[in-house]
Amino acid sequence: MAESTKKATLNIDGTTYELPIYSPTAGPDVIDIRKLYADAGVFTYDPGFTSTASCDSTITYIDGGKGELLHRGYPIDQLAGKSHYLEVCFLLLYGYLPTAAELEKFEITVTRHTMVHEQMHYFFRGFRRDSHPMATMVGVVGAMSAFYHDSTDVNDAWHREVAAIRLIAKLPTIAAMAYKYSIGQPFVYPRNDLDYAANFLHMCFSVPAEEYNVNPIVARAMDRIFILHADHEQNASTSTVRLASSSGANPFACIAAGIACLWGPAHGGANQACLEMLREIGTVDRIPEFIARAKDKNDPFRLMGFGHRVYKNTDPRAKVLKQSADEVLELLGVDDNPLLQVAKELEHVALNDPYFIEKKLFPNVDFYSGIILEAIGFPTSMFTPIFALSRTVGWISQWKEMIADPQMKIGRPRQLYLGETSRDYVDIENR
Ligand code: SDX
Repeated sequence: MAESTKKATLNIDGTTYELPIYSPTAGPDVIDIRKLYADAGVFTYDPGFTSTASCDSTITYIDGGKGELLHRGYPIDQLAGKSHYLEVCFLLLYGYLPTAAELEKFEITVTRHTMVHEQMHYFFRGFRRDSHPMATMVGVVGAMSAFYHDSTDVNDAWHREVAAIRLIAKLPTIAAMAYKYSIGQPFVYPRNDLDYAANFLHMCFSVPAEEYNVNPIVARAMDRIFILHADHEQNASTSTVRLASSSGANPFACIAAGIACLWGPAHGGANQACLEMLREIGTVDRIPEFIARAKDKNDPFRLMGFGHRVYKNTDPRAKVLKQSADEVLELLGVDDNPLLQVAKELEHVALNDPYFIEKKLFPNVDFYSGIILEAIGFPTSMFTPIFALSRTVGWISQWKEMIADPQMKIGRPRQLYLGETSRDYVDIENR
């Protein structure tokens, strides 16, 4: 925990209270209000936690003004350009870039955990074929706690390590199974001779009827998408995982809670919603109509893939994805994709519109990712499952950090109560 360097004073009804201020290695100072209710009998009020630090962490730092994202201090654009997903997983989990020997051991360990218990295949049979793959993933990942009892004791460091590896290794397998089930094709087992991204593509797109060779360009683009979605500080789904974990719930149940939260269109579901929006816009000449709707207070429509609670500049991940979209679509020979043209023109129009400029609304991670995923061959329903499997390492890294924190307490916010004060029950004959 940082040391208090200065104090804030709060005056309530003539009484002054001193609150410690801690200074971070980067970002805003924080005011410690933990004793405020005990000392002053008041709560703070911050729906949506726009001004609240829920924890201290050393994993990811975001500078929303600069549009900067660091994982253990390394800029996201450098990691996306020079690293690969399992190395980023090691970095997020253990806090440093591995040696070649450490990386090889980690990759072999993850690879050898990619299969799921054979009984889990039967879980899928209980779902309708047209279930959204996110519904299947929430159910099957939660059910992992019914299979892997030897890694559910959160107080055992070895259990925590095994659970982390199992989740990172098995989420692609489960996501691919959810996809195969939704299209009526047989499940494809993972292969130990393929790297993480290639294995996922193999499990999604190969069929027993013919040989499937992974396109290395597509595999690289897939791996880059995994990296760009790996972690993002205390976002809604990560905060969900932390809150669920604070009660001592097992890691599989907590990650299932994170998947459920990520599904929302304001969060990880935005990549699906964004591509559906681009498809609805259809052509560049319809962009003004949708920009007007996004600005209309009486219209609930929002520009999906735009805006962010933290970034008040372009999301650095969106910059990398925009470049990757150009590269992948050109290499795949689909660079005339009308959706990409609409997306680029929509971004240009919005970034020059006073409404978006004043409200600091820029493209976020979800704006271009769907275009790449569709070019690779995924249906929109698989966009958020891919976000979920990518973010599992971030959730589990934050989970491990919280569990190991001696300050950890069960999360239990209070409220501003505006309901009825105490009143007597009225018998039904008197109502
Ligand atoms: C992710 O937190 C994370 O880190 C998340 C994430 C991660 O990696 O985990 O980065 C992933 O979730 C990215 C965001 C994906 N969601 C979308 O693209 C959905 C569209 N965006 C919005 O719903 C919105 O921008 C949010 C939810 C992302 C952020 O909302 P905030 O911070 O609560 O801001 P707000 O809703 O209070 O909006 C501020 C103003 C409002 O206008 P006023 O009421 O002040 O007049 O901006 C407007 C909003 O109406 N606004 C938009 C808009 N986003 C905000 N207007 C039109 N289109 C939009 N997209």
